[in-house]
Amino acid sequence: MRISVIGTGYVGLVSGVCFAQMGNSVVCVDIDAKKIEELKQGIIPIYEPGLEEMTLENYKNKTLNFTTDATRAIRESKIIFIAVGTPMGEDGSADLKYVLAVAKTIGESIEDYTVIVDKSTVPVGTAEKVRATIQEQLDIRGVDIEFDVVSNPEFLKEGAAIKDFLHPDRVVIGADNEKAMNIMRELYAPFMKHHDRFIAMDIKSAEMTKYAANAMLATKISFINEMSQICERVGADINKVRNGIGSDSRIGYSFIYPGCGYGGSCFPKDVQALAKTAKDFGYSPRILDAVEAVNLDQKYVISNKVIAKHGEDLSTKTFGVWGLSFKPETDDMREASSITIINELTSRGAKVVAYDPKARYEAESFYLKGNDNVSYVDAKYDALKNADALILVTEWQEFRSPDFQKMKELLKEAVFFDGRNQFSKAKMQEYGFEYIQIGVN
Ligand code: UDX
Repeated sequence: MRISVIGTGYVGLVSGVCFAQMGNSVVCVDIDAKKIEELKQGIIPIYEPGLEEMTLENYKNKTLNFTTDATRAIRESKIIFIAVGTPMGEDGSADLKYVLAVAKTIGESIEDYTVIVDKSTVPVGTAEKVRATIQEQLDIRGVDIEFDVVSNPEFLKEGAAIKDFLHPDRVVIGADNEKAMNIMRELYAPFMKHHDRFIAMDIKSAEMTKYAANAMLATKISFINEMSQICERVGADINKVRNGIGSDSRIGYSFIYPGCGYGGSCFPKDVQALAKTAKDFGYSPRILDAVEAVNLDQKYVISNKVIAKHGEDLSTKTFGVWGLSFKPETDDMREASSITIINELTSRGAKVVAYDPKARYEAESFYLKGNDNVSYVDAKYDALKNADALILVTEWQEFRSPDFQKMKELLKEAVFFDGRNQFSKAKMQEYGFEYIQIGVN
């Protein structure tokens, strides 16, 4: 099928490349000419395992192309994916200006029946707005062209995006007629050879499904983080409690890891956007607001522990930080807890020496730019030299089994704040560390 994907951000690029991989003819469109030129040269704007190889291969095979010419791409496509950003507006709602600008271009350009797919995470009711915007343009043109707007929320996880897209747990499609639904069914059939994971529903339910899924996952995280706070105070160990509750299959082990709070491009934004939608429709959500509030506090847990040990004045202290990205296997720093933690420490005069396998550039050039108390190193042990303590923020694999002896020798004091509870306290004490975790005394 001929497809265009408008917006070459995370979701757009991964979707485009994966559809091309399945043999479709895909054009990825972006208004950023530099980005498009670089993609043609094989320069991928984000780090995501497998993405670069697959992009190069499909571009070479001509199943994948890149352009800034949206009009032409739209005219030549049977299916158009809208995958532009929906940044958080000042009031917490998702800003639809980019989505509706694309809808306008679609209305100005289509010539035959086209299926328009909302892939961006958009509030309930957006498909209606997209439809109205396209229709308005068709009316201005004075043409009568059939089209359908479909909702197809994306559930991929950063760091596993290609795998998630090629082997989805489910594909949720919201459509209001069979014709559009069948086209989507055909498009996704190659992705579910062994199991039918296609879930068809009405448009609003599909739009809502995305928010409900992310809100549920964020709730699990804030829940376990709240339990960790209680554990610390009553003298229980959250790691044991997590194991104890996870064994109940109704609860499950996944997504109940305590930590320094969730970050990334989805959970913080989507929880707030859903709360805003609820309020717009006259309902005051209590769980969603609590999930957000717990998460904001959780980002300060590690820095508070550092302050509790080393005092408010950190001007003579240096801390090594392992991991900056909001989670492993990505260079994405959006809403990363490392930003809060590091700024809390440096604002009290501390020096921070940071190491991350992928996110150094993002941190240095954008998210921690201007913070002169932070320096960066390219090897994990270099962050420890003469540091007063090590702080683990992101649980990259290379931090799982470090050389503890070497760490002890490099650190000024063998103090280890672990924001992801990676090790056993007993083992760490055997190695001679003062080991401070989340949710354990
Ligand atoms: C998430 C959803 O998982 C995905 O389905 C949706 O499409 C987009 O949002 P992503 O943002 O890539 O994906 O990250 P995810 O792996 O879900 O992790 C989000 C954050 O939660 C990270 O900061 C992570 O450290 C934190 N987390 C996750 C915890 O603190 N504890 C856990 O148990 C799990």
